[in-house]
Amino acid sequence: MRRRLAAVGLAFIMGAGWSISTPADIPLPAPPKAKGDRCVEPTDLMRRNHMEFLLHQRDETVHRGIRTKKHSLVECLTCHTQTDAAGHYIPINAPGQFCQDCHAYSGVKMDCFECHATKPRNSASVHSKSAAMSGTSPAHLSNLARVVGNRP
Ligand code: HEC
Ligand code: HEC
Ligand code: HEC
Repeated sequence: MRRRLAAVGLAFIMGAGWSISTPADIPLPAPPKAKGDRCVEPTDLMRRNHMEFLLHQRDETVHRGIRTKKHSLVECLTCHTQTDAAGHYIPINAPGQFCQDCHAYSGVKMDCFECHATKPRNSASVHSKSAAMSGTSPAHLSNLARVVGNRP
């Protein structure tokens, strides 16, 4: 319930645009700037509806075997991850990073990155295979390996 209210509040703020003036003591999410010119859908639509493209149960790529790269979670990382001073990718769900920033603000909890990679596929430092896949069957593992991209 609290989450829902917070999300509604955020949606209101987002609808009004980021530049809305607010009391100085209320921090607004300011997700890091993306790479590339534009998102896979208009920014406005993504801001409000990105979960519709991503959630398994609503996703054609999973249920009907239609696989496009457009709304793939792996693709999001290409443009929306940041690198640190040493040039290493920062996990997209780390504090202050793109996916985490708004979600922390609106109280959204996501478990997607237990399985899915948090950094671009070709990154030198991907998260640990065992941490992501412990307790899964071999068949599930090979399925996972295709999407999560965290093989060495
Ligand atoms: C238990 C492990 C697991 C969790 C948790 C999980 N996924 Fe997945 N996801 C998978 C597997 C396995 C596939 C591949 C399905 C296939 O190939 O048929 C997949 C496929 C996908 C795809 C389509 C392929 C791609 O590369 O994008 C999307 C989008 C996706 N997941 C998003 C999410 C989101 C968003 C969440 C969190 C709300 C999430 N997943 C949580 C295991 C998981
Ligand atoms: C080709 C690069 C690219 C890809 C791939 C991409 N985006 Fe974006 N995205 C952008 C750009 C550019 C913006 C505009 C805002 C900015 O510049 O930071 C944006 C904006 C957004 C916003 C609104 C952010 C805000 O400030 O309100 C969301 C949410 C979003 N993207 C989610 C996603 C998701 C989820 C995926 C994967 C399905 C994805 N994006 C894939 C480049 C990309
Ligand atoms: C501009 C702010 C913003 C950014 C950036 C953002 N999200 Fe969200 N996201 C939200 C809000 C707000 C909700 C909750 C909407 C609701 O509850 O109706 C949400 C909900 C979701 C949900 C549904 C969660 C659930 O259990 O219902 C998924 C999945 C999701 N986001 C994935 C992502 C991913 C992956 C990224 C990074 C690629 C991302 N989001 C970046 C604001 C954002």
